[in-house]
Amino acid sequence: MKALVLSGGSGTRLRPFTYSMPKQLMPIANRPVLEHVLENIRELGVSEVGIVVGDRATEIAAVLGDGSRFGLELTYIRQEKPLGLAHCVTIARDFLGEDDFVMYLGDNMLPDGVQEIAREFAARRPTAQVVVRRVADPRAFGVAEVAPDGRVTRLVEKPERPNSDLALTGVYFLTPLIHQAIDRITPSARGELEITDALQWLISYGATVLAREYTGYWKDTGCVEDVLDCNRELLGDLKGSVTGLVDAESELVGPVVVEAGARVVRSRIVGPAIVGAGSHVVDSQVGPYTSIGRDCRLLDAALEGSIMLDGASVSRVPALRGSLIGRAAAVTSADVGSAHGRLVVGDHTHVEVAA
Ligand code: G1P
Repeated sequence: MKALVLSGGSGTRLRPFTYSMPKQLMPIANRPVLEHVLENIRELGVSEVGIVVGDRATEIAAVLGDGSRFGLELTYIRQEKPLGLAHCVTIARDFLGEDDFVMYLGDNMLPDGVQEIAREFAARRPTAQVVVRRVADPRAFGVAEVAPDGRVTRLVEKPERPNSDLALTGVYFLTPLIHQAIDRITPSARGELEITDALQWLISYGATVLAREYTGYWKDTGCVEDVLDCNRELLGDLKGSVTGLVDAESELVGPVVVEAGARVVRSRIVGPAIVGAGSHVVDSQVGPYTSIGRDCRLLDAALEGSIMLDGASVSRVPALRGSLIGRAAAVTSADVGSAHGRLVVGDHTHVEVAA
């Protein structure tokens, strides 16, 4: 089996960050979403991975390289325009050949993994197998109607009145018959070739499409709230380790990671929290549920339930929570006052908060 990871798309819901970085590189627990995705794929025993990239190809390749760091062999496939998930399969045709493959959306986090579901696909060999998750409001997703034996009877992309609460999560196990189906469908109302429509085409011709429910945590990291929520979830499993320097006047409570070259001075860090390599935390309070990227500066500040991207700095802002501070962004206040609140600050931005 091969894997096809879809990492095109413009990430409009994650602006301003996606003006300067692809959404699939947003760090969750200090690692890009795509690295978490590739780790899940490696757990399936798959090593050949095609990665469909749009105009952010260079940045993605700079981070992932040839995949050897993850024990994978990556092939980059360029999509000129975001024309749909099924379109991605058509441009990956040479890479996929006649192999079965798992298609995985590059902004989807399923930290519990899909190994069980992959095993069932290999054992039962349906034409396709989709991974579904019960959601309160399925209208923003592809929705599966499923018979008691697990067969999908109908799939509809973003129905206004859903007949089921089972959403397609963005992980699909597919066999080469999908190529014939994609050749026969036409673009949807949003102008995209939908994988949902291709699967529905197979169902209407009597093919077996199975659904398996994933019951763990699932998030499509499409907007700031989802990124912060996912970060909180992943940090929940953090194991503390200190390789950087923590001075005697500082206190670490609970699972805290202080990476190599990081320094914690006269500060209190409540885990789960990560202080990335090369970052300095001075006279500050951090956590819980906070990740600080590499080479950040936190001075006379307090940060909770937040993410700082690489090179960001926060100084003299005593109460920030639920914030996402972009790469190399600087947040300061004129004096140590009572400035507090919530900030979403794009890369390379400078914000001065009134006390
Ligand atoms: C896509 C699929 C949809 C699926 C969703 C999962 O939607 O078309 O069926 O439920 O991913 O994240 P999109 O994100 O393109 O709107």
